[in-house]
Amino acid sequence: MKPSLEQVEAWAKEAGAILREGYGKTHQVQLKGAVDLVTEIDHRSEALLIDRIQSAFPHHTIIAEESGLRSGQKEHCWYIDPLDGTLNYAHGLPLFAVSIAYAEYDQVMLAVVYEPMRDECYSAERGKGAWLNGEPIHVSQQTTLISSLFVTGFPSVDWTTDQNNVRYFERVSRLSQGVRRLGSAALDLCYVAAGRLDGFWENRLMPYDMAAGMLIVAEAGGTVTTILGEPNYLTPPYSVLAANAAIHPQLLQVLQDVRATKPT
Ligand code: IPD
Ligand code: CA
Ligand code: CA
Repeated sequence: MKPSLEQVEAWAKEAGAILREGYGKTHQVQLKGAVDLVTEIDHRSEALLIDRIQSAFPHHTIIAEESGLRSGQKEHCWYIDPLDGTLNYAHGLPLFAVSIAYAEYDQVMLAVVYEPMRDECYSAERGKGAWLNGEPIHVSQQTTLISSLFVTGFPSVDWTTDQNNVRYFERVSRLSQGVRRLGSAALDLCYVAAGRLDGFWENRLMPYDMAAGMLIVAEAGGTVTTILGEPNYLTPPYSVLAANAAIHPQLLQVLQDVRATKPT
């Protein structure tokens, strides 16, 4: 038996209800790194999702952000981020989501990202399309950088290195209408899929951050690769570059140019 999109959407909404109920309350915040947080709500959301998956598919592999790997059949693998945007959540900023991807033989087949505060459910099924609350979505039609609005992220682990994205942020900001930094990679990708933003890049994401969003962008007609332009974004070292097909090569070129320039 295979999971259905409806089933995964229902689980994402159940987990999203936990996030919504806990939103704005005082949390037990623990530090995983200097600026990397986790709350009790991340754990509660993850426990629910793992329970739902294991009850329906006890032999599947699960890779979940907070509790790690549950080994099972390699050909069936779930990537779960129970709360993408924890830093926003802990500060009471309403930009966060639940992200679930189901892969067969390392290919993501089903993807759901649920944004509970807006009751927006993004989903995709390989080869069948991408939807927002059941309505088909498509990437934007912009064709130039100067008419585009982008989004990026700054991984907390990179703040102490010169790979911290500031140079890329500056260059793309000067060549476009702007670069947003929203704090939820899953939503960054879904907003590209829905045409609200024209492209997204981030270095050092993890598969649970982006596996679902990347299928949603691809099924919405976008191009999805690593920041080096390689197609295998689910193998390390992980990074993403997602945009509509006209913008993707232009953004890739800018990122390559910055990489080739020495920091001053
Ligand atoms: C983070 C968010 C953020 C991205 C970080 C991720 P988390 O996930 O997606 O946008 O910049 O790299 O770690 O920790 O909130 O699930
Ligand atoms: Ca995440
Ligand atoms: Ca998370």
